[in-house]
Amino acid sequence: MSDSYDLLEAQARALLAGERDFIANAANFAAFVYHELPDVNWAGFYLAARDGALVLGPFCGRPACARLPAGRGVCGAAARERATVVVDDVNAFGDHIACDSASRSEIVVPIVEGKELVGVFDCDSPKPARFGEADRAGIERLVAVFTASVERPVQPRDASSYS
Ligand code: SME
Repeated sequence: MSDSYDLLEAQARALLAGERDFIANAANFAAFVYHELPDVNWAGFYLAARDGALVLGPFCGRPACARLPAGRGVCGAAARERATVVVDDVNAFGDHIACDSASRSEIVVPIVEGKELVGVFDCDSPKPARFGEADRAGIERLVAVFTASVERPVQPRDASSYS
């Protein structure tokens, strides 16, 4: 499995090379993961707002919840812990926020610059327990390729600009 992540990492690096814009690379990265990883029905970013909420960013998949309240959902847990969260069965995760009822398992990788949370990368699957240890390590490597590709990973989101 790590062989295929070696290849995916090289492909992601090639895809994002030559562009430093956050939104452009985030959009291409989400599309890349969505299309290249089997059994994935949603892949995308939620970006940190100053009030602690996570606001929908570039993604592939069905339309999703635009705003996750601070600390809520699997995304909120990963943001709070500053650590990857893997959920084998979203129905058994009490605070899961269901955007697509087809989702059965998910992985959320936080994106942190220094002490500041940039956002999270969220990947969902219709298969239970889709994301094993090799996937956790591999997807973290892919997210690291994304963060290294952009000029400045932090995109401060001012909550007042949404109200
Ligand atoms: N799974 C998330 C909500 C976002 S959707 O899955 C796209 C959560 O519970 O944090």
